[in-house]
Amino acid sequence: PFVLRLLQSGREVAVPADRSALACLQDAGVDIESSCEVGVCGTCLTRVRGGEADHRDSYLTTAERAGCFLPCVSRARTLVLEIDL
Ligand code: FES
Repeated sequence: PFVLRLLQSGREVAVPADRSALACLQDAGVDIESSCEVGVCGTCLTRVRGGEADHRDSYLTTAERAGCFLPCVSRARTLVLEIDL
């Protein structure tokens, strides 16, 4: 489990082990686009500003992974992941 800190709105959204970050954001009413929901299309791309993502997609290159993540499949290595939403 980890917490998403939404820097634009100042909100925090908890992500339990059995749910995706995308699902938790959508449940919280955050406006985020998605399509494949399996980490292959890039639609849900979200900027990461702090913390470290645990990348589980098959879309981003290693270089691209530096500043963003795909919340439909990816998670966090840190307790808090700060994102640009
Ligand atoms: Fe396709 Fe997340 S919705 S990569």
